[in-house]
Amino acid sequence: MSKEMRLLKLCKGTFGQIRGLHLTAAVNAAAGEKAPRMKTFAIYRWNPDEPDKKPTMQEYQVDLNACGPMVLDALIKIKNEMDPTLTFRRSCREGICGSCAMNIGGVNTLACISKIDTREGKNVKIYPLPHMYVVKDLVPDMNNFYKQYKSIQPWLQRKDDAHNQKSELLQSVADREKLDGLYECILCACCSTSCPSYWWNGDKYLGPAVLMQAYRWIIDSRDEATEKRLDKMRDPFSAFRCHTIMNCTRTCPKSLNPGRAIAEIKKMLGGAAKKEEPHLKAGAV
Ligand code: SF4
Ligand code: SF4
Ligand code: FES
Repeated sequence: MSKEMRLLKLCKGTFGQIRGLHLTAAVNAAAGEKAPRMKTFAIYRWNPDEPDKKPTMQEYQVDLNACGPMVLDALIKIKNEMDPTLTFRRSCREGICGSCAMNIGGVNTLACISKIDTREGKNVKIYPLPHMYVVKDLVPDMNNFYKQYKSIQPWLQRKDDAHNQKSELLQSVADREKLDGLYECILCACCSTSCPSYWWNGDKYLGPAVLMQAYRWIIDSRDEATEKRLDKMRDPFSAFRCHTIMNCTRTCPKSLNPGRAIAEIKKMLGGAAKKEEPHLKAGAV
């Protein structure tokens, strides 16, 4: 065999081996033979049907190769494939409904937009939102939170309702911009349940989420119940139990700033700020 022929044969053999290796990898991947990437999820469990049993942390092993990237994906996988008794709320899986709020790795956040911590040796610890009564497992009792939200009358109020039904309520671009950073709140309660003041005074202190919504209506140029709304908060607890610790703003999964909204309410309550006159009057064309 000539020198050239020997070289050609050697090359063919090497390329064949490389191609073979790629083929094997492809077949392995197709057959799901990737080395499993196991992750431990330690999840708070409490069953109201067994009231004498203390809450426990239950561990589940999930192969991350066979799971979506978010914590909610893992919870759904555990519920569907390992333990149908695991209870949690979720709906949109888009960070819009606020129902999957829980404490993940020590942070109040939304499970559907929280990436699973893939670092080796790091368990994912999941608890319900802190300092709330627990209905079951990861489901907190939101009754007090919603009752407080209702108390701030979260709807547009005018002095003359009859007139309003006949004409549009116009708003200038500048007035509309005042609602930015407020209307986006999804009422997930991550902020309120991270607030130490709310932990201890949640029966009387409205908390950052509800106060930010109160401010959203106070500052709306079309709303005429400003004084009435502020008067309802002229007591030592409703708003003034905020001590500007700012846990609320730090934890908000929508990057909003409830701490700032509360500061604005306090300024208005203290007479240091006033609502501006609307740029456009209702019904003006
Ligand atoms: S301000 Fe943020 S953390 Fe608080 S309820 Fe709204 S979206 Fe949730
Ligand atoms: S700034 Fe106010 S509402 Fe926010 S965490 Fe601190 S005390 Fe609570
Ligand atoms: S499921 Fe709706 S915010 Fe997470």
